[in-house]
Amino acid sequence: MDDSIRVTVETDDEEETVRVYDAEGSVEVDDATFRFSVDDATVDGANETNETKEPDPSPAKADSPSDSHRLVAVDDVPARGTVRFEALNGERGTEGILERSGDEVYAWRNSCPHKPHVRLDPGFGARTTNDHIVCHEHGARFVRGDGFCTRGPCRGQSLDLIEVECRDGDVYLSDDRFDSGRRL
Ligand code: FES
Repeated sequence: MDDSIRVTVETDDEEETVRVYDAEGSVEVDDATFRFSVDDATVDGANETNETKEPDPSPAKADSPSDSHRLVAVDDVPARGTVRFEALNGERGTEGILERSGDEVYAWRNSCPHKPHVRLDPGFGARTTNDHIVCHEHGARFVRGDGFCTRGPCRGQSLDLIEVECRDGDVYLSDDRFDSGRRL
């Protein structure tokens, strides 16, 4: 399946959202397991056949492992707002955002701790001030470069850090939990 589906599983204590490049599988959260199966013809269009497709977790068809971890040029990360990316672990993707604080670039899971299915960056950049990333839903504020929530319904919680590094003017995913990444 070339396109991903976004699966959110919510229990009383936890919520998890993943992007999945597979027509069937499961997502586990807490003690709950959500199993799903998608009709390819519905998702990918009427021309789909029964032929098995290898998932392509790295659509950029990178030349080297290092290239498969490249997300964007540092200059493409704006001083205000954010850029979205996807970190992949096999057929599972996690959406992240990149933000720039001074000369440093930081990456966070694109998810508000208050309601994890809410994306801080819905696709056109997260709201930011000089010092904070602001959740558009209920106004929680997270310190830029730190991720700590100082105001709002999830005050005291932090964004989930995704490790990245800057090399030769580009931003690379360096987080061991993922084996490739790409800009969205
Ligand atoms: S969903 Fe982000 S503050 Fe409520």
